[in-house]
Amino acid sequence: MSWLPSLLTDTPESGYELAIKLSRMAVKKTQPDDDTRSKLRADYANNADSLTMVSNVVATNFQTVAQANNYWRD
Ligand code: HEM
Repeated sequence: MSWLPSLLTDTPESGYELAIKLSRMAVKKTQPDDDTRSKLRADYANNADSLTMVSNVVATNFQTVAQANNYWRD
């Protein structure tokens, strides 16, 4: 099954979860090795600037998801 069957979500909150998923998938696809990602986890999880960058990436993806859902206005 596709990991991204649709950009449509029922609520803004589930849209935000999708934005996180998109962001994490980018990391997984660029670094497919599980052990390497596990090793690097502690670095970013304990670095304020890294966490701020994470937040920025998620915000960018959330823009796309929100637009695809017409900002849940319908
Ligand atoms: C865990 C988001 C970048 C490696 C997590 C979790 C979130 C998250 C929400 C917690 C999942 C949970 O406990 O249910 C993101 C986002 C990223 C990002 C949005 C980028 C925009 C990265 C990078 C790495 C990484 C760059 C390493 C190269 C991991 C690993 C875990 C994790 C190994 C699992 C930790 C555990 O199970 O204790 N990430 N992450 N992530 N992340 Fe990231």
